[in-house]
Amino acid sequence: MQKKVKEDFFKASWKYEEAPESTNHIQIKKQYDLFIDGQFVKPVGNKYFDTIDPSNHRKIASVAEAESEDVDKAVKAARKAFRSWSKISGKERGKYIYRIARLIQEKAREFSVIESLDGGKPIRESRDIDIPLAANHFFYYAGWADKLTYAFPNRNPTPLGVVGQIIPWNFPLLMAAWKIAPALATGNTVVLKPAETTPLTALKLAEIIHESGIPNGVVNIITGAGKTGALIVNHPDINKIAFTGSTNVGKYIQKAIAGTSKKLTLELGGKGANIIFEDAAIDQAVEGIVNAIFFNQGHVCCAGSRLFVQESVADLVIQKLKNRMETLIVGNPLDKNTDIGAINSKKQLETIKNYIEIGTNEGGEIYQPKCSIPKKGNWCVPTLFLNVSQSHRIVQEEIFGPVLAIQTFRTIDEVIEKANNSPYGLSAGVWTQKGSKIFNLTQKLNAGVIWANTFNKFDPVSPFGGYKESGFGREGGLHGLKPYVKFESYFN
Ligand code: NAI
Ligand code: MG
Repeated sequence: MQKKVKEDFFKASWKYEEAPESTNHIQIKKQYDLFIDGQFVKPVGNKYFDTIDPSNHRKIASVAEAESEDVDKAVKAARKAFRSWSKISGKERGKYIYRIARLIQEKAREFSVIESLDGGKPIRESRDIDIPLAANHFFYYAGWADKLTYAFPNRNPTPLGVVGQIIPWNFPLLMAAWKIAPALATGNTVVLKPAETTPLTALKLAEIIHESGIPNGVVNIITGAGKTGALIVNHPDINKIAFTGSTNVGKYIQKAIAGTSKKLTLELGGKGANIIFEDAAIDQAVEGIVNAIFFNQGHVCCAGSRLFVQESVADLVIQKLKNRMETLIVGNPLDKNTDIGAINSKKQLETIKNYIEIGTNEGGEIYQPKCSIPKKGNWCVPTLFLNVSQSHRIVQEEIFGPVLAIQTFRTIDEVIEKANNSPYGLSAGVWTQKGSKIFNLTQKLNAGVIWANTFNKFDPVSPFGGYKESGFGREGGLHGLKPYVKFESYFN
């Protein structure tokens, strides 16, 4: 009897009340046209596609599909706008960028809800990470607009012209900010395409851009799937392509523009190594592992999807990690308690499920907590694999979902070699109390971003980008200005 009382007590005290964010303050149109030359215009072919809520498969809005003629219109508008935009003072350009930043802040709540509805990420993340960081990026680059001669002393930086920007679905508004803000600060004009499953915050941004009073045609936002993206890439009057997305499409783009004078930056996939040494603060490290792989359902190019734990603490870390996974809440993205939201699309869910099957078939030992998931929608329980080695596909290939592959190591040299044994080189994490170990590893790991005693931390001031198949070029910081300028100086 007493045991029963105790059980009931725990059941009752650990159940969270639902805490959904309200949607009655957001404004979403039924149908979105293309934002070209400062206004929303119908697509020439009059074709529209649906964007859905991945947590319940409900249609949210229909969105225009841009075809060749539409892309051409957008590029022409950007070209025309470039003539004057590139000549106005940096201070004047900065004024508009600051305005966009402030307008995002003003509408932050609305942006957060739309981001979670359209893409499936937990509201806590869109509210506390995606949207504030997007505003920060505009603030940060607004500050550079009139200081380019200080950024590049004696080099006379000038803009490239019209830039085509293609972004993915994992951080929709944030990726739009990463792309648009530095391009505008340096005096370029933009044709941007958001991903087909998450176009709504970019279209909301188009409304804000209009409201900011920035001259027509400086920013054009057009929607569509890969075909529209390819039309941007291949348009002859574009000077630069900036792309974030899969390595396959990155390779396609590189081939497509070979032999042209188009400049290119690619931010592609990753398979980040997260390394836990025996002297690390173990409880913090466990939180770090959770954040590294389960943040945004694992749809993160710099996710710590390969965990390396020093052998002496492996049992302890893995047990604590399993315990922690039991407490993760998978479900309604709009609920403030939710840790893991909906998988962005059915296609991505299939990819993840396929990898879980591959991992099991290759002999990996799978662990999934006993958590409940809603009946309708795209869901994946957080998953880890033990008993895997470097040659396993789930250790080598990007899964882009909440799936972690765990290995152990004994020595520093061993873990460096294992961590670098990857076609990717985007991110890594090191957990140790020793500063000297951190410096040693940051020198030797082939990754563009290395976090120490933390993971997945972003700041507009820090450059971000990869090595090897993770791409090239940097976004963020002073480095992020460089891919948008050319130098007219003796030193070139
Ligand atoms: P994707 O690379 O096809 O999509 C990213 C963007 O590229 C979207 O806007 C899409 O419309 C556009 N696109 C697609 N084909 C194009 C083409 N031929 N030319 C120009 N633009 C094109 O990514 P997808 O298929 O949605 O995801 C597949 C895998 O890619 C994921 O499982 C993940 O491993 C990886 N990925 C990595 C991302 C990152 O942040 N590095 C983001 C998204 C996906
Ligand atoms: Mg959607």
